[in-house]
Amino acid sequence: MAKAPKILILNGPNLNMLGSRQPEVYRSTTLADIEAMCRARARDLGLAVDFRQSNSEGEIVGWIQTAKDACAGIAINPGAYSHTSVAILDALLAVEIPVVEVHLSNIHRREAFRHHSYVSQAAHGVICGLGAKGYLMALDGLAQLIDEFKGGEMKAR
Ligand code: DQA
Repeated sequence: MAKAPKILILNGPNLNMLGSRQPEVYRSTTLADIEAMCRARARDLGLAVDFRQSNSEGEIVGWIQTAKDACAGIAINPGAYSHTSVAILDALLAVEIPVVEVHLSNIHRREAFRHHSYVSQAAHGVICGLGAKGYLMALDGLAQLIDEFKGGEMKAR
């Protein structure tokens, strides 16, 4: 049987604090809950998952680089790095695999500095404001994008 395509699910700074962090914004779901939900959905979609979190920009850039040969797609919630990191944008542009950006909160209803995401420029799709369910939608979207890339309908940027 062919190996299941692997999706790298990346979580940026402070997402390890989910559950206790600003529950009025991020609700009570923990990152471990989100990982379990993603693993179940990926199994249903025939995908494998590599789920990671880091508070360090350089570590996230390194993981994105290694995904170029190891993974079929990336789902990323870059946290606050969305709004600051040209390095993460450049890494995502370099890997040439489908990317979906996820935010738990609706960044457009929040402070003005959250309205712009550098990462969105490298993303094929962006999901925000739907809480943990957004990660599952990102996996659904990636399954479709991977098929489109394989069929040659979509090209990397
Ligand atoms: C976030 C939104 C960001 O603005 C914030 O810095 C985060 C979480 C979200 O999932 O809603 O850390 O990416």
